[in-house]
Amino acid sequence: MSHIENHVVWTIVVAAGSGTRFGGAKQFAQLGAGTVVEWAVHEVGKWSDGVVVVVLPGSVLSDGQVEGGSTRSESVRNGLKAVPTEATIVCVHDAARPFVTETVFSRVVNAVVNGADGAVPGIEVADTVKVIDANGQVVSTPDRATLRAVQTPQAFRAEMLRQAHDHDLQGTDDAAIVESLGGKVVVVQGDPLLRKITSRDDLDWARMTAHKMTEGEV
Ligand code: CTP
Ligand code: MG
Repeated sequence: MSHIENHVVWTIVVAAGSGTRFGGAKQFAQLGAGTVVEWAVHEVGKWSDGVVVVVLPGSVLSDGQVEGGSTRSESVRNGLKAVPTEATIVCVHDAARPFVTETVFSRVVNAVVNGADGAVPGIEVADTVKVIDANGQVVSTPDRATLRAVQTPQAFRAEMLRQAHDHDLQGTDDAAIVESLGGKVVVVQGDPLLRKITSRDDLDWARMTAHKMTEGEV
């Protein structure tokens, strides 16, 4: 339950990727007592009025699950079709991020309650980032202080996200689509715990973290 007055919050968990960089469907890797996707769904379910899980085509097992598409944006679009019209705020979360904190979840949702079209968690970048061309030549070096590495859960005014996905647009996150339509997206403070599992190293980290959590060390 979201417990936010006058708002109905639904969350779409996208779990229909093939995990090319990982070398397999990382969202089904075992993590402590559950799988990576089970952790993500369990966490966001605590603060949502409803959850839609977007799974690999052919693996829909229960109510609340829908089939994904060939891109992340297509998977979100399929998930959105299963979100009831009464939802006023829709969050999108990567199944590959098993640890979600209530603090970050409420930060993104509250930013939307307070008037943003979208809100995303972001963290400062430690490395200098270069913009390069196809030959690897540096085009520019943005001021690091102005950069944020962005995570999920991302929250949106439901109407804005529906409108964004009415167009057949693609992006590595939903915020990029909302931004391209002129929506106001804000970055709130993220958390290193929201790290995404991309490679085997990330899964090792997640297993260590899950272990520490059960021991009460995190
Ligand atoms: N995702 C999805 N449908 C797709 C592609 C991605 O639901 N067609 C989901 C993934 O399951 C993941 C999240 O979007 O939870 C973030 O994507 P990413 O980390 O890129 O996962 P994959 O696309 O599976 O990995 P890769 O890019 O290495 O193939
Ligand atoms: Mg991908």
